[in-house]
Amino acid sequence: MHTQVAIIGAGPAGLFLSHLLKEKGIESVILEGRSRDYVEGRVRAGVLEAGTIDTMERLGLAERMHREGMVDNGLDIRFNGRTIHFDLPAMTGRSVMIYGQQEVVKDLIAARVNANDPLIFEAPVNRIEGIEGDKVTVHYEHAGTAKTLTCDYVAGCDGFHGVGRASMPKDVLKTFQHVYDFAWFGILARARPLHEMTYSNHDRGFALCSRRSLSVSRLYLQVPADEKIENWSDDRFWSELHTRMYDTGNEIVEGEVFQRDLAQLRAFVAEPMRHGRLFIAGDAAHIVPPTGAKGLNAAVADVRVLAKALGEFYRNGSTAGIDTYSRECVERVWRVVRYSTHMSALLHRFDHTPMDRNLQLADLETLSRSRAAQTAIAEQYVALNSVKD
Ligand code: APR
Ligand code: PHB
Repeated sequence: MHTQVAIIGAGPAGLFLSHLLKEKGIESVILEGRSRDYVEGRVRAGVLEAGTIDTMERLGLAERMHREGMVDNGLDIRFNGRTIHFDLPAMTGRSVMIYGQQEVVKDLIAARVNANDPLIFEAPVNRIEGIEGDKVTVHYEHAGTAKTLTCDYVAGCDGFHGVGRASMPKDVLKTFQHVYDFAWFGILARARPLHEMTYSNHDRGFALCSRRSLSVSRLYLQVPADEKIENWSDDRFWSELHTRMYDTGNEIVEGEVFQRDLAQLRAFVAEPMRHGRLFIAGDAAHIVPPTGAKGLNAAVADVRVLAKALGEFYRNGSTAGIDTYSRECVERVWRVVRYSTHMSALLHRFDHTPMDRNLQLADLETLSRSRAAQTAIAEQYVALNSVKD
């Protein structure tokens, strides 16, 4: 098989890239290692920045998002029993959308499959050849047979553990990492959510109240990285959440817990994001702690820049965009990682000395008193990954 652009991975990065390339008349084939059910069943975050919302709309893929998603105009941060409220439209002119990442993935896969555009599931890629040559050959397995796909360019949208970044020459690739010694214990519960997306800093640890709909809450607690969540009863989760959210009444509604997961926190950056005919995007190139809700939005921004660059090349042969893809994305990615690590430092309990703890609380106190500081956070929450299409 031959195509113009081979895309490895049917996560948000690969799927958005395929639709953005099609919009420019560029052919692509997506090779996804797992099954459709697996990819659509993966529960991840759910905050869409303004740029991601605009991209869904421009691609004509926003109908269900507008029907089932929730426009979010506010954000709250709690500490010491107090609340800092961020009025997003007043501070930034825009809002965010609460719409689960797996719902986004389902919509993009459905559109791709309904259009009969090539998306091959259970087709793990095991080798990429020729990225420094004139043509790339992608080696993958499908239906128990070894197969190849040749292409002009290959996009490694295959996540942190994928073959894309691993195919970058070792003497070319630089990586930067920070692994936190705590994790997020997340649940989905059939319970009316809090009105606002609410992050909380508490002596006992971080907590977050988010949602998926008016009847489904998405809730998180900071726990040690090696925590055994099976040892937690639902009652223990709820009582800890009430405490960390300074909820002395029954502000937080409890309900049936139907999903539990544990997410490790790390910050990771790989540079460059392009070598020869190989590009990497999304989690293949960078990982952010979820405190900033930036993972999905950063992946979408990467492939908007990549689609624009490839559009230029196939339109007039110019490689200007291709040559600046890495620099343009890496610059934004470091700002995204900075915002996400800053929010993590502001809101989590670390192995603080009393001095550190009081300095953290002083940061929150300053934030509560400074409209300018609040607006700086609101701007990044709503549109940090803004790129020019
Ligand atoms: N061959 C084919 N597919 C592969 C391979 C391989 N060798 N390795 C990984 N994949 C697939 C995975 O099965 C997965 O479906 O690549 C896809 C990568 O998708 P994601 O991990 O969702 O990464 P990305 O598209 O970059 O999206 C980033 O996902 O993890 C969240 O917080 C993160 O929101 C961010 C978003
Ligand atoms: C979520 O809704 O799952 C969510 C929200 C905000 C975050 C992370 C996750 O920072």
